[in-house]
Amino acid sequence: MKIGILISGRGSNMVAIVEAVQSGAIPNSEVAIVISDKKSAEGLEKAKLRGVETKIITRKGRTREEHDAEIVTELKDRGVELVCLAGYMRLLSSDFVRAFPNKIVNIHPSLLPSFKGLDAQKQAFEYGVKITGCTVHFVDEDLDHGAIVLQKAIEVADTDTAESLSAKILEHEHALYVDALKRIVEGHYEIIERRVVFTKS
Ligand code: GRF
Repeated sequence: MKIGILISGRGSNMVAIVEAVQSGAIPNSEVAIVISDKKSAEGLEKAKLRGVETKIITRKGRTREEHDAEIVTELKDRGVELVCLAGYMRLLSSDFVRAFPNKIVNIHPSLLPSFKGLDAQKQAFEYGVKITGCTVHFVDEDLDHGAIVLQKAIEVADTDTAESLSAKILEHEHALYVDALKRIVEGHYEIIERRVVFTKS
């Protein structure tokens, strides 16, 4: 399956996906392109180093729809079937979502539906939760809202800071995203209403 990855920054989840594809941990797949909406995204160099084509598509004062249309064209031109958002900091337009029905995934650093939006780890830490985690979900037009693929719960230690908690969550994000993509690529699942049901473990 051809995968396209969208990033805006550091790109550590993107690296985890690329390496899992290249090692065969995510089977029968290829990362066809990594697209960033930010010229300065550190992840771009990391993708190039791993032999993956990269492209910068900034918004350049265009509407969300115009910007997304260019990204969709680049993805479709390369035969991309599965789109992974990996620290991509923009909400997708409905046209983008409709161009890849149930084939766009995102990772979010909290147990959704708690702590949507920016700085989810800090939001959870400041709220004082004892357990937080990360979520891989399909993407729809609402922020951090689509059907949940997998979640991982992580305990907040008394000694944690917002930073140490973020680092702990990030390690689990990489493993969770790879596990979720492996299952999606293998295709043994159904989406029943909002529920992603695996038909094989
Ligand atoms: C991750 O915490 C991810 O959950 C969130 O944005 C961050 C991106 O980090 N959506 P990276 O660019 O993958 O290192």
